Amino acid sequence: MTTPTERSGDAAAGSLAGHPATRFDHAVAAEVVRRLRAAGCVFAEEEAAALLSTAGTADALADMLHQRVAGRPLEHVLGWVEFAGLRLSVVPGVFVPRRRTEYLVQRAVARTGPGVTVVDLCCGSGAIGAAILSATSAAAGGSGPGWATVRHASPPRLVAADIDPTAVACARTNVAGFGASVYLGDLFEALPGELRGRVDVLVANVPYVPTGEIRWLPPEARLYEPRHALDGGADGLDVLRRIAAGAPLWLTPPGTRPGGCLLIEASRAQAPIAADVMSGAGLAPEILESAELAATVVVGTYARRR
Ligand SMILES: C[S@@+](CC[C@H](N)C(=O)[O-])C[C@H]1O[C@@H](n2cnc3c(N)ncnc32)[C@H](O)[C@@H]1O
Repeated sequence: MTTPTERSGDAAAGSLAGHPATRFDHAVAAEVVRRLRAAGCVFAEEEAAALLSTAGTADALADMLHQRVAGRPLEHVLGWVEFAGLRLSVVPGVFVPRRRTEYLVQRAVARTGPGVTVVDLCCGSGAIGAAILSATSAAAGGSGPGWATVRHASPPRLVAADIDPTAVACARTNVAGFGASVYLGDLFEALPGELRGRVDVLVANVPYVPTGEIRWLPPEARLYEPRHALDGGADGLDVLRRIAAGAPLWLTPPGTRPGGCLLIEASRAQAPIAADVMSGAGLAPEILESAELAATVVVGTYARRR
């Protein structure tokens, strides 16, 4: 969306003030749609429906609309995001999970088995881990749309970590029902040492935007998501390289169970380089793509010891 002036936000808020929550009638809904459209929201009707269903009062609705037309990401305004069939908490300062990342979840789910250990590094809101557990735990109610759920009698153990305290707090909320642990720290340093050599599925949606391309991101990302959630260094692969280099120490070695694997989202252009990086780290790489979700995932299986 474009960033409108503060004045248009005030006008929108003013036009909605005083309507009790129970009277979000057609006229109010139409006004919300009109203000969103004027602010450049392409999916104004859908966004209006989300705002109207989330706001508890007219004042809350006016405030949310004000924030949205000022350019704040819809999900930060709502406080929730739909991801893989789940409604998850997402707060300002935390990366908003993208729809395409559901492909990373699908590929990770396909690599799970009974009782496996899954680690979600750079977990942000914890969306990936929550979705994997939802799709694999027999007790979980949710399911991922668009892929077969794999119910394991002995559900995966999930450990997640992020360097950002706000993200860690958000992730803890989202995985609370699954008995998962979320740690604060720099990549593997955050993890308990007992996980060395025991990680079956290591999944990471790392920051992978090349530094020089940050300026081309939509304002919602550039202005409202933390730089450390987006910036992957000169070619976007700095964090991926660090994870690939460290992965063999943490993954289940080949020969015990099926060797552990690392799954990372990347851009299509980055994928061949990411595959080479994984190969250099002793991981057998595979590039997977989803046309439907416009997503690329690079998988590295721990196939030989270095
Ligand atoms: C692109 S976001 C992805 C968040 C989440 N996995 C998702 O898909 O919604 C990248 C995340 O990596 C985290 N991060 C960046 N550098 C990190 C590091 N060195 N160690 C741990 N986490 C890091 C950021 O805080 C951010 O939450």
